[in-house]
Amino acid sequence: MDIAVFGAGYVGLVTGTCLANLGNNVICVDIVKERVENLNKGILPIYEPGLKELVEINTKEKRLSFTTDAKSAIEKSQVIFIAVGTPQSDNGEADLSYVFGVAKSIGEHINGYKVIIDKSTVPVGTADKVTKHIDAAMKTKLPFDVVSNPEFLREGEAIKDFMNPDRVIVGVGSDRARQMMHKLYVGIERTGKPVIFTDVKSSELIKYAANAMLATRISFMNMLSQLTEKMGGDIKEVARGIGLDSRIGPRFLQAGVGYGGSCFPKDVRALIKTLEENDCDASILESVDQVNEKQKMHIFHQLKKFLPNLKGKTIAIWGLSFKPKTDDIREAPSLVLIKKLIEEKANIHAFDPVAKDNVEKIHPEINFGKTPYETIRGADALVIITEWDEFRALDMNEIKLLLKTPLIIDGRNIYEPDEMKVLGFTYYGVGR
Ligand code: UGA
Repeated sequence: MDIAVFGAGYVGLVTGTCLANLGNNVICVDIVKERVENLNKGILPIYEPGLKELVEINTKEKRLSFTTDAKSAIEKSQVIFIAVGTPQSDNGEADLSYVFGVAKSIGEHINGYKVIIDKSTVPVGTADKVTKHIDAAMKTKLPFDVVSNPEFLREGEAIKDFMNPDRVIVGVGSDRARQMMHKLYVGIERTGKPVIFTDVKSSELIKYAANAMLATRISFMNMLSQLTEKMGGDIKEVARGIGLDSRIGPRFLQAGVGYGGSCFPKDVRALIKTLEENDCDASILESVDQVNEKQKMHIFHQLKKFLPNLKGKTIAIWGLSFKPKTDDIREAPSLVLIKKLIEEKANIHAFDPVAKDNVEKIHPEINFGKTPYETIRGADALVIITEWDEFRALDMNEIKLLLKTPLIIDGRNIYEPDEMKVLGFTYYGVGR
């Protein structure tokens, strides 16, 4: 199929590249000229395992190209994905101006029947609004359908999630669109993965409901971790105990430093807004958001319990991205800690395998180490914020020697409290 993907950011780039890899001709359109030029040279704007290689293969095979020319991309394509950003506006709503900008452009250049796919995370009812924007921009009326096809890609696992999804959700309002979408995803369906067709509004809500449910599980466990910290018990044992109940399942039950990233915080708040606008009770999600904000501060408060006066102290941080396998620091819990440490006039040493450059841009005052070991030399405490695999099996004796005081605040529970005690560390793990 001939496909245009608007937005060569995270979602657009992964979607476009994977669809090209399945044998389609894909043109990715972006308004940022420099980004397009870089992509044509094989330079990617994001870090995602496996993506660079796939971009290289598919551009070489001429199935994938990048352009700023919206008109020709629209004219050449049967299917158009809208995968531009939907940032959070000041009042918590999703800002849809980029989405509507693309819709207008489609309306101006449409030259035959097309299926337009909302891939960006957009509130319930957006497909109707996109339809209106396209309609309003069309000089000659031509048939088209707007479809909702939310993405469930996790950063760091995006290629795998696209090629091997739990499910593909497609919200359609016509048989014609349904047939096109079926053709588009037949390659995925053949691998045995369910492609679920539903109405447009349900599909739009499924996206928010999935992220809000996962965020709720995390806040629920973080809330209980506060209790185990006060009352005794181990939150990891609690997670294991409930996770084995097949109705609950084991995933997304890890207490920690709070969820971050470009999705959970923004989507929970946007769903709260939609619920409120429709006079529905949003109290569960309001609590989910509040618990998360508190949890992001919790690590700092724990550190203060051990080191009440942080002025002049050296604090080492391992992990800066909002989760492992990504350089993304949007809403990252590490930034909350860094802000507090700066306020308290502590010296910050930090290490992250890929997110260092992004943090350095906003915090040049931080002393970045090249290795986890180098970062902790002479530090008064080590705080672990992101559970990168390379922190799991380090030489603990070496770590103890390098630290000025053997204090570890483990925000991701990667070590075992009993073992750490035997090794002679003062150790805090969340909810343990
Ligand atoms: C999330 C969803 O998992 C994807 O399905 C969805 O497509 C994506 O948002 C999106 O809407 O675009 P992502 O933000 O990449 O993906 O990251 P997750 O792996 O879901 O983690 C989110 C946050 O929750 C991270 O900060 C992570 O550390 C935290 N988390 C996760 C926990 O604190 N505990 C857990 O048990 C699991």
